[in-house]
Amino acid sequence: MSETSYEPNIVAFCCMHCAYAAADLAGSSRLQYPPFMKIIALPCTGRTDLGHLLRAFEDGADGVLVAGCLEGRCHYQVGNLYAKQRVNRIADLLKQIGLAPERVRMINISAGMGAKFAELANEFARDIQALGPTGLRKAAAGDAANAA
Ligand code: FES
Repeated sequence: MSETSYEPNIVAFCCMHCAYAAADLAGSSRLQYPPFMKIIALPCTGRTDLGHLLRAFEDGADGVLVAGCLEGRCHYQVGNLYAKQRVNRIADLLKQIGLAPERVRMINISAGMGAKFAELANEFARDIQALGPTGLRKAAAGDAANAA
């Protein structure tokens, strides 16, 4: 499989007040962002916890993006700051198990920044494509087959 044909599994946890709306704006403006990026809308990125982020990797994500409101603009005051702490914690955990910490990233964006969302999403996808698969998906599938 060549790097150019490799379509990674990317999960993007997007705050519905900002990044989700920005992704929608990017789409309606016909700006391209990776079709293989699975977007999950949340009321706030503060809703993510370590379990959600780790579970995404366990379920086969090669990269996890957390996209929240601009700092100081979270509708729940500090939800995006908590999310940033959790993303940093997951990056540390990935490093400890031998995976690149760059596989998880937090971005901050407003609802009107459709072009910026597309740019950052494409940049993240290129980085994950360069890193390749985590290998966790295959391992998880093997475990399931062995358990069956
Ligand atoms: Fe958007 Fe908190 S409401 S990150």
